[in-house]
Amino acid sequence: MSISSLSLETHGNDSHGKNADGYRGATDNGFDFTKLLELKPRPHPTIETQRSLDERSFSELLSSPPRLRSSLETVKSSECLDGMVTPSSRSATNTPRGTPRGSISTPRHSFEPHPMIGDAWDALRRSLVYFRGKPVGTIAAMDPTEDSLNYNQVFVRDFVPSGLAFLMNGEPEIVRNFLNKALRLQAWEKRIDCFTLGEGVMPASFKVLHDPVRNSDTMIADFGESAIGRVAPVDSGFWWIILLRAYTKSTGDHTLADSHEVQRGMTLILNLCLADGFDTFPTLLCADGCAMIDRRMGIYGYPIEIQSLFFMALRCARTLLKPENGGKELHERIDKRLTALSFHMREYFWMDHNQLNNIYRFKTEEYSHTAVNKFNVIPDSIPDWVFDFLPMKGGYFIGNVSPARMDFRWFAIGNCCAILSALATPEQSSAIMDLFEERWQELVGDMPLKVSYPALEGHEWRIVTGCDPKNTRWSYHNGGSWPVLLWMLTAACIKTGRPQIARRAIELVEQRLAKDGWPEYYDGKLGRYIGKQARKYQTWSIAGYLVAKMMLEDPSHLGMISLEEDKKMKPSLTRSMSWPPHRF
Ligand code: GLC
Repeated sequence: MSISSLSLETHGNDSHGKNADGYRGATDNGFDFTKLLELKPRPHPTIETQRSLDERSFSELLSSPPRLRSSLETVKSSECLDGMVTPSSRSATNTPRGTPRGSISTPRHSFEPHPMIGDAWDALRRSLVYFRGKPVGTIAAMDPTEDSLNYNQVFVRDFVPSGLAFLMNGEPEIVRNFLNKALRLQAWEKRIDCFTLGEGVMPASFKVLHDPVRNSDTMIADFGESAIGRVAPVDSGFWWIILLRAYTKSTGDHTLADSHEVQRGMTLILNLCLADGFDTFPTLLCADGCAMIDRRMGIYGYPIEIQSLFFMALRCARTLLKPENGGKELHERIDKRLTALSFHMREYFWMDHNQLNNIYRFKTEEYSHTAVNKFNVIPDSIPDWVFDFLPMKGGYFIGNVSPARMDFRWFAIGNCCAILSALATPEQSSAIMDLFEERWQELVGDMPLKVSYPALEGHEWRIVTGCDPKNTRWSYHNGGSWPVLLWMLTAACIKTGRPQIARRAIELVEQRLAKDGWPEYYDGKLGRYIGKQARKYQTWSIAGYLVAKMMLEDPSHLGMISLEEDKKMKPSLTRSMSWPPHRF
């Protein structure tokens, strides 16, 4: 049964179906998705719940939210499988197909699980990595036909959809272990040649080495010193904080986040990105290749992919950091940065028809506070494709803004994450979703979802990528289609009240992904070809599908990975506030 056939109550929307935040809350099926963010964590029996005073009073103040689960609950993915209820009973085989045992008691709420779900859980569990007997992560890919390179490692960013899948399935233990393990690794001294990296840097990936003779496990980690290009993963620390919040929110277990070690780990990450420097912007200055796009792709400077994650991680950390031991001072620094960052992003990164028209008519060489074209962007640098790409309805955060340089490319993670973190205003969130609808062929095509759009070609590809043969046009990071991104798209759809878009995307995935062996990425303008160098059985392609399915099945899961708009964050800044300049 799909959500569209369910009838659930709506909440105080105006006649246009918008709530006070401006989201199109109530959908065609009459269900207010924005209410999902208010749902309480579901208690997990294996974890003793010790909620902080704040959390208790907050949830107790909330009037009882609608019990969505009873009507949406259909088949828990674990119930599709034999012997897979707990991580300890990890069976990688025996996946029964057909009617799952004990799952369909009331035909009214029953639904036929897609056969891919069972296969996906099988494959996800096969990818589990154990350290001294405990599951601590999932391996990046299990492709028996390809040289593993570093795909046999647990990548922090890759583990996020796996972690969410386990949380949604009521199996938080592995997520807790993973968070603890990554924290231990953060404490290592990190060196590249003679240079030591910042204390807070989290690893891009780690690997468990098993010595069968001594029967012992050891770990190695990569902080960028082994990675192609030798770039530290700026996104790892942010994902770690985001997953920590998801864990805390879904289990109600605050003991992990409240522990001294975790508080310290978060503080170290924040110290790295909130440090004072030469910055004139609140955005975070980055090297190329420091996120999911981990090769040279011209995203150095202030890439949207990092700014959105930075914003989300700051907001998550704000809820998790305790005020004691310097936490209060950190709260203030976070609040200031959040205000400045949201203003900057909403003002300067936002692109829609109006904004493009403004830039097109920009004057250059303006000086002083009166400048409209603050970054001195030369209108001739606007690429031709943008004029065709931007519909009258719809908008997005562009790839990068720095002096005289606007990267107009569209990036998936930055835009979806802007919706989930409420970096985008409700109007901007709706416009991002409008763009998906208006430019479906370009952004989704035959396989969701393009990591970036459009591809760099010819001379530009040569200059920007350094002639990278892996990132040729419409391949890999250069306009390739990555099934893992389905979970983010689905979450953004649910948050903005447009689950039908997610359903459309999931249908596309279900036509091919499992048959093709769960590839890492697809190539081509429409994403029709299995990627040139794509690994098969790529874990985050598998987990991303499961997370998308579970969220659509039970939209209350969205609360783990989504934040409501913080009304306090509205900056009161106007141009005149930076005026007059200091005079002596
Ligand atoms: C590639 C991707 C990176 C991912 C890794 C493991 O390097 O670019 O984002 O984390 O593979 O899947």
